[in-house]
Amino acid sequence: MAHAKLPFFVTGGIMLSGKKIVLGITGGIAAYKCAALVRLLVKEGAEVKVIMTPSARDFVTPQTLSVLSKNQVYTDFFDNNLVWNNHVQLSEWANLLLIAPLTANTLAKMVSGQCDNLLLATYLSARSSIVVAPAMDLEMYRHPSVSANLKRLSDSGVHIVPAETGELASGLSGEGRMAEPENILKFIKDYILDKAPLKGKKALVNAGPTYEPIDQVRFIGNRSSGKMGVAIAEALAQQGAEVTLVLGPSHLKVKHRQIQVIPVETAEEMHTEMLHRYAQANIVVCSAAVADYAPEKAEKGKIKKGNPELNLKLLKTKDILQELGQKKQSQFLVGFALETDNLLKNAREKLERKNCDLIVANETNAENQAFHAENNQVIFVLPNNNTIDLGFKSKTEIAEELVQLIIQKRTQKK
Ligand code: CTP
Repeated sequence: MAHAKLPFFVTGGIMLSGKKIVLGITGGIAAYKCAALVRLLVKEGAEVKVIMTPSARDFVTPQTLSVLSKNQVYTDFFDNNLVWNNHVQLSEWANLLLIAPLTANTLAKMVSGQCDNLLLATYLSARSSIVVAPAMDLEMYRHPSVSANLKRLSDSGVHIVPAETGELASGLSGEGRMAEPENILKFIKDYILDKAPLKGKKALVNAGPTYEPIDQVRFIGNRSSGKMGVAIAEALAQQGAEVTLVLGPSHLKVKHRQIQVIPVETAEEMHTEMLHRYAQANIVVCSAAVADYAPEKAEKGKIKKGNPELNLKLLKTKDILQELGQKKQSQFLVGFALETDNLLKNAREKLERKNCDLIVANETNAENQAFHAENNQVIFVLPNNNTIDLGFKSKTEIAEELVQLIIQKRTQKK
């Protein structure tokens, strides 16, 4: 999903000065605390527009929130004068969508993509950062379906302010209370503003195999699953980057909302998409297993097996990474090296020849390491003969460490 919004970070002066926040309030007792939350946000300099779900009105009045936010409060798709409240305009307006309190009901609807009120419609069309503050009773908060739903929301890139422990509306005491308004504000400042080192940066990643057609039904491909590249795209997005993932044929589902997927099939298509986006990118990672050779031409229809022999003429494809290296300006360029022998020697040679800032080297004959595996064994190869041996790790861990290293090296480069 594209992320055309302005980055949501500090510009100096009052912390939230000039920032536009849509606060979604759902029907839980903690909704009464939203009056204080709106006051805090406005005091910090934010412009706040409130959307309430129908049941939120049982807990706090729209009038109170309208006075405190100094804005109209939205509760329905149509206001009293039957004017349509355009949810797309509301989501486009916002730098941040904050949903507090988040009830189990709205959580489940968000996860399953339901859209029976204005807040859900705004959520589904939002492209800004999203923060939610769940509030539930003890057993509800602990329920496996609620935990699973929170995990799915978090996997899709939504930030979750953990519920707090204390006295609950039911009279029970335990985890489930909505975080206090001061803590929600702190969370927004800490996690959304300060702790996203790649906020406002554009990352371009390629991943997966390429398929080179022989005829209408056959192709030359390879065993790459794309898992490593998708994990890298997710780790970059998790650090705030706006990511474009040019993905060869793959069954993987990319869930993070800050990743735009461009599906491609052939090396030529991957080349076109990568080159087209390269100038705007700050960080580029080429993890795709691009075919080195492709049939000179794809036959129309299906080749019949009449002949005892079939000769295919293969021509070398364009080396995408090498071309990007030649055109490199301020981009931080990462390549991969897949080797069966002389891992370090070949990886260093690729670092030089393709003008990369870093090469992720991996050996294909290492035990337990296969294209479809969850784990891999890699070495980061850097200029000046520097290497970092990561040993055997999950692809997610490798991706996270790679992104941390990219952040560190980019800072040193400046
Ligand atoms: N690569 C590319 N375009 C190609 C071939 C490879 O962009 N046509 C990139 C890969 O995405 C990877 C790097 O180049 O980041 C190295 O790929 P690898 O297969 O290890 O090496 P090759 O350059 O193809 O050379 P060789 O097969 O001879 O080792």
